[in-house]
Amino acid sequence: MPFKVEAANDADIEKILSIIFLCYGGKNEYINAVFPRALTEEGHKLNVERMLFINSVAPSVFWEKVSDGETGQIVGGAMWNLCEQQKPPPYDIDGPPGTWESESDKAYAQALQRSFVVDENRLWEDNELPLLGLAMMGISPEFQRKGAGAALLESGLNLADAKQAATILVSNEDGLRLYEKHGFETQNERDLTVPEEFGQNTDVRIWTMIRERKSA
Ligand SMILES: CC(C)(COP(=O)(O)OP(=O)(O)OC[C@H]1O[C@@H](n2cnc3c(N)ncnc32)[C@H](O)[C@@H]1OP(=O)(O)O)[C@@H](O)C(=O)NCCC(=O)NCCS
Repeated sequence: MPFKVEAANDADIEKILSIIFLCYGGKNEYINAVFPRALTEEGHKLNVERMLFINSVAPSVFWEKVSDGETGQIVGGAMWNLCEQQKPPPYDIDGPPGTWESESDKAYAQALQRSFVVDENRLWEDNELPLLGLAMMGISPEFQRKGAGAALLESGLNLADAKQAATILVSNEDGLRLYEKHGFETQNERDLTVPEEFGQNTDVRIWTMIRERKSA
């Protein structure tokens, strides 16, 4: 099936986010905590508002959509961060009022996120600019395993190669093979942890990966 990859506008981003959260299907504890109620209309709206805000304040962030080449239907998308001049500052996740139902839900999400980025931040620190980060990516379940994910990934990696940038991402088990096939190597594999005060740890396993830059 032929797929087309293009820059995504705000309306596309809304569609891409609904696809990405549908992919996770409410089954990933990390996603559920960081993007609460993503499969409800209210949660979706808050997530869209939050991601469009990031887009408006972070010029290094860009989104791409992948569409069915015959029907034009958007089947997935990715959020990238191309840093050429400056590395991203460390940050705690936040969202518009109402994103989390309680302060403790928000604190738990922030704790999970801090664990999520430990190895990723080290890669950002240890590698010279330019660097490309893949922040999120997803393909509609009915279009998976048809090459759409590869097309989307390759579009970003072509840019990385043109810029001679290394590419950094954090994968789950589903993405591993696709990333390995495209030259990513795992630097760390571990389960997310949170401080004891939050009670039980999750069973969310992450792989922090890098694809080295292509030299001229
Ligand atoms: C991970 C994900 C992005 C991959 O997207 P995808 O479109 O399914 O990826 P591709 O089709 O390009 O490649 C996946 C597999 O399909 C195979 N494939 C590609 N084209 C194919 C075709 N025409 N027929 C059959 N299989 C095909 C690929 O060889 C690859 O096989 P492998 O897993 O054995 O290596 C997608 O599964 C997804 O959105 N998952 C849920 C969200 C998620 O986990 N995102 C990544 C988080 S880091």
